[in-house]
Amino acid sequence: MAATGSEQAGPKAYYVSTPIYYVNDAPHLGHAYTTVAGDVLTRWHRQRGEKVWYLTGTDEHGQKIMRTAEANGVSPQEWCDRLVEESWKPLWEHLRIANDDFIRTTEKRHTDRVREFVQDLYDRGEIYQGGYEGPYCVPCEEYKTYGELLDGEGEYEGLQLCPIHKKPVEMLKEENYFFKLSAYGERLLAHYEAHPEFIQPESARNEVVQFVRQGLEDLSISRSTFDWGVKIPWDDKHVIYVWIDALLNYATAVGYGSDQKKFEETFPADVHLVGKDILRFHAVIWPAMLMANGLPLPKRIAANGWLMVGGEKMSKSNLTGISPHELTDHFGVDAYRWYFLRAIVFGQDGSFSWEDFSARYTSELANDYGNLASRVAAMVGKYFDGTLPEPAAHGEAEQAIADGLTTAVRDADEKLGEHLDFAGGIAAVFDFIKQVNGYLTEQAPWKVAKDTSAEAQERLATILYTAAESLRACTVLLNAVMPESSAKLWESLGAEPALGALADQPLADAGRWGQLPAGTKVTKGAALFPRLEETK
Ligand code: MSP
Repeated sequence: MAATGSEQAGPKAYYVSTPIYYVNDAPHLGHAYTTVAGDVLTRWHRQRGEKVWYLTGTDEHGQKIMRTAEANGVSPQEWCDRLVEESWKPLWEHLRIANDDFIRTTEKRHTDRVREFVQDLYDRGEIYQGGYEGPYCVPCEEYKTYGELLDGEGEYEGLQLCPIHKKPVEMLKEENYFFKLSAYGERLLAHYEAHPEFIQPESARNEVVQFVRQGLEDLSISRSTFDWGVKIPWDDKHVIYVWIDALLNYATAVGYGSDQKKFEETFPADVHLVGKDILRFHAVIWPAMLMANGLPLPKRIAANGWLMVGGEKMSKSNLTGISPHELTDHFGVDAYRWYFLRAIVFGQDGSFSWEDFSARYTSELANDYGNLASRVAAMVGKYFDGTLPEPAAHGEAEQAIADGLTTAVRDADEKLGEHLDFAGGIAAVFDFIKQVNGYLTEQAPWKVAKDTSAEAQERLATILYTAAESLRACTVLLNAVMPESSAKLWESLGAEPALGALADQPLADAGRWGQLPAGTKVTKGAALFPRLEETK
C-alpha cells in the first residue's frame, strides 16, 4: 500500500459501518433498519464523548444492477446516479442519519484502490487462474452449492432455487481468477476462538464456525461474461467480482492507499453491521482478504435478523418491501427510528405489523413519555407560572427516583452502547419513565396544589422539580434514538441556556442529579407524540 503524508495519526475513531446497499431498487424497511441502528450507535458513542466515524453507501457494480438498468433502458451508471440521488440519499436525510461519508463503488476514489488491492494480492501469489462451473444466484451475486438449493414448485417446477430469494439459479461456466481462500480456514478459526466477540450474536458465530470447519473452497474473484465492474488490472477481459469490490469499500472510504493518516485513525471497523444473509462475506471472506494483505481485522461483525412480513423476509422482489415513507408519514420519523429497535431483539428476526406499531406508539410514546412531558410542563405553568421551582428537602420517594435514574443510565449504556442490545437499552429508559409516572400518581401534585400552606407549596415544588429533572435525563438518554423529539423537550424544559446543547450532554453524566437549575423557563410545546389519526 502506498503510504502518503508524514503527519502523525491522531487517536483512532470508533468506526461503524452499514452494508453498502444494491441500488437496483429504492430502499425498503429492511435497509433502513440497519442504517438507523448504525445511526443510533453512532450518536450514542458521540454522546459518550468518543470520536466516531459512521459510513454507509451503495454497491453499484455487478450483473444485478446491470440487468436492472438494461430493463429500464438506461446505462448502469445513469441508473445508479438516479437511484442514489433520488431515493437513497434523500431517505437517509429524511431519517436523520448522521453518516460521516457516503461511498459509492463507482467512484474513482474507490475503483483505483480496489485495483491496487487486488493487484497486491496477485503479486503476493494469492490469486491464480482457473475454471469454474456452478449454480449462480444473481440477486445474491453468489455461486451456490448444490446442497443448499431448493426444488422449485409451481411456475418453477423442475428448476432449482436460491434458498434466500426463492428464484431459479443460473448455471455458469467461466474462466476466472481465484483467491486462495481455502488456505485461511485454520487462521480464521483461530481468530474466532481468540476473539469470541468477533461475530455476534452467538448463533451467528456458531453458524460461521461450523461453516469454516467444513473446509473452505477457493473463491472466484472475477467475472468475464459481462463488463459492469472494476477491471482486473492485469487482464481487462475480466471484472472484479462484485463482492470483493464491495467489501473493500470499508477500506477505500477511509483512506486506504490514499490518506494514510486518516486510514490509521479509522481502520479497522469497530462494528460492521450486516444482515444475517451477508454474514459469511463479512466474517469469512473479508477477514481472509485482510489477512492476505496484512491489514488488521475488524473488531466486531454484528448480524441483524430480518424484518418479516407474513412470515417471509421483507424484500422488493417478493413485493413486501414497504417504503419507510409510508410509516413516517403516519407515525413520524422519531417514532419510526424508535419502533424497530425497541420492538425487535437485535440479531433476531422480527415481524412487522401496523397494529403492533400503533399499540406501542400509543402506550409507550404517547401515553407514558409524551403525556409525562406535557403534564409536567402544564403543571409548572399553572402552579409556578412556567418557572421551574427550587426543590425543598429530598425525601425517600425522590431518592428512589434518583436511584432509578442511576440504574437506567448504567443499564442503557451497557446494553445499547456495549452490547448492541438496542431493545434492552431503550427499555431501561422506558422503565424509568414508568417509574416517574408512578411517582407522580403517588405524589398527586394536583392535590398538593390545593393546599396553600407554605409546607405544601414546598412539597409541590419538590415533586415538580423531581419530574422535570427526570425528564431532563430522559431527553439526554433518548437523544440518540429520537433526536427531534428530544430537541423539542430540551427546549420545552428551558434547558439549553443553562446546560448548553443537547448533543453535548455527556451520557456518563446523565444520571447526576440536580443539573436542571431552578428558575429555567418551562414552556408547554406541541405534543411530542400526537394522537394517531385513525387512517390505518
Ligand atoms: N450489496 C450487498 C452488501 C455489500 S456490503 C459490502 C447487499 N446489498 S442489499 O441491498 O441486498 O442488502 C443490504 C442489507 O440489507 C443486507 O444486510 C440485508 O440483510 C439487509 N436487508 C435486506 N432485506 C432485509 C430485511 N427484510 N430485513 C432486514 N434486513 C434486510 O447485500
